[in-house]
Amino acid sequence: MKHATKRRTALGSALLGLLTVVGSVVVPATPAAALENGLAQTPAMGFNNWNSTHCRAEFNDQMVRGIADLFVSKGLKDAGYDYVNIDDCWAESSRDGSGNLVPNRTRFPNGIKAVADYVHGKGLKFGLYTSAGTKTCDSQGFPGGIGHERQDAALFASWGVDYLKYDNCGDHLGQSAQQRYTAMRDALRDTGRPILFSICEWGSNSPWDWAQGVGNSWRTTGDIEDNYGSMLNIFKSNVQRSTDSQRGAWNDPDMLEVGNGGMTDTEYRSHFTLWSMMNAPLLIGSDLRTASAATYAILTNRDVIALDQDSLGVQATELSSTNGLHVLTKPLDNGDVAVALFNETGSTATIGTTAAAASLGNATSYRLTDLWSKAVTTTSGAISASVPAHGTVVYRVARAGTFTAPPSGTTQVSALTASLAASAWGPVETDRSNGERSSGDGRALTIGGTTYPRGIGVHARSEVRYYLGGRCTTFQATVGLDDEVGDNGSVTMEVWAPGRQLATSGVVRGTDTAKRVTADVTGQQYVHLAVLPTIDGARYDHADWADATITCS
Ligand code: GLA
Repeated sequence: MKHATKRRTALGSALLGLLTVVGSVVVPATPAAALENGLAQTPAMGFNNWNSTHCRAEFNDQMVRGIADLFVSKGLKDAGYDYVNIDDCWAESSRDGSGNLVPNRTRFPNGIKAVADYVHGKGLKFGLYTSAGTKTCDSQGFPGGIGHERQDAALFASWGVDYLKYDNCGDHLGQSAQQRYTAMRDALRDTGRPILFSICEWGSNSPWDWAQGVGNSWRTTGDIEDNYGSMLNIFKSNVQRSTDSQRGAWNDPDMLEVGNGGMTDTEYRSHFTLWSMMNAPLLIGSDLRTASAATYAILTNRDVIALDQDSLGVQATELSSTNGLHVLTKPLDNGDVAVALFNETGSTATIGTTAAAASLGNATSYRLTDLWSKAVTTTSGAISASVPAHGTVVYRVARAGTFTAPPSGTTQVSALTASLAASAWGPVETDRSNGERSSGDGRALTIGGTTYPRGIGVHARSEVRYYLGGRCTTFQATVGLDDEVGDNGSVTMEVWAPGRQLATSGVVRGTDTAKRVTADVTGQQYVHLAVLPTIDGARYDHADWADATITCS
């Protein structure tokens, strides 16, 4: 990492010594989407046939219609599942004389559009599959999309396709993954139909480094199998990618195996909980026409689904994983934090952490809701459970008791105890920049050559919240990327109150000088400071809220 002094922009030099005032702007509560198709602002939810049928004959028109029926009759649609997607083997082995893909005549005698129409008739959406190469991935190798992107995208749009899974098989004709996936992104965009774009190149080309502006999700690993070892390995890989996902652009650890018979219900509950904590697309992979009541109960646990679908859109990070005992935390939009305790091992174990370690503070007690048993308990800070082998206990943790409001007058926020203090790398630092690891490892807060004695230093994605108790009027800060990252990095720094953005820095780059952010917080219960990565991901995003003050009566 470079520590060079920040280069000033031409405008910055002209205005040397002046700060750009960007505060007090009320804008609608729409966060900047990664891929600009506006889709998947929360991870996709739905069904895909592959894990239950692969290429077998039972994958056909009747199955897809049956799944759509069950989405409605069994309450899955009400629980948020809306995409009914079909995978490989839907096409004939050759294109027609005009070069168009042809639906398999045995499986889909009425064509694909008829099935899509049926699914739409239920108020659901329809998804399709093809591959970013000359062939699809099944051993029969159906025609892939490379070189036919515009023609295929137009055909899919004419059929009413709402979601495209784009696989990685066949000859790539010398093109990079970025070229191949970008070509289909552009072709989908140019149809004018909103089509969610699901990249499936198995993490082979580090998609987390480039795919935020290309797809709505990208697979991070090879294919899941219906056994505990496979699920565990994928979890361990995908959980490391937490800083790379953002609204509209999600890590995809592959589709669900819940209900396919190769794991116990305890293991399936872990699978479903971990995928939800990691903001995975939740694509049901079992044949719902024969699924058990236990399978439906797992798939429709709305409290767990709510973690996946939480509008803050922060993927869980792993606090610890000693000896196979995993603690994951995930900040939530209402200021609660989800804490998952996953026991990878073969025997029952106690797993624990604390509210402070889980980013919570400024409360005299905490309410823990166990999202599987629904039991509610209260703690002064300890969060722990006896967790069975391969099991997961997941709590929604809420602040309770009494909270301390800032004193009257103007106070540095670095002197307050945050009620939520989440930062992707290292803790939220007080009066220091972010050093990425342990508390106090940063430097003096410095933006554009100016050093600030007070403030907080964070790493995107960061969410920090202070309780105000309705007694405060103004939040102000000088914001920017710390000089310790040189010219690197780009973020937006946003000030929020409940459900409403109060001010934003706009995009702040490593080359920019400091900006001043001011927000009217009159009457608000809290102020929430968010630092979001831009399309280039979260690398180097050391952001400073320098000289950050709150004025209260
Ligand atoms: C690849 C994908 C799977 C599935 C199959 C279909 O293996 O990763 O998810 O789509 O192809 O052939």
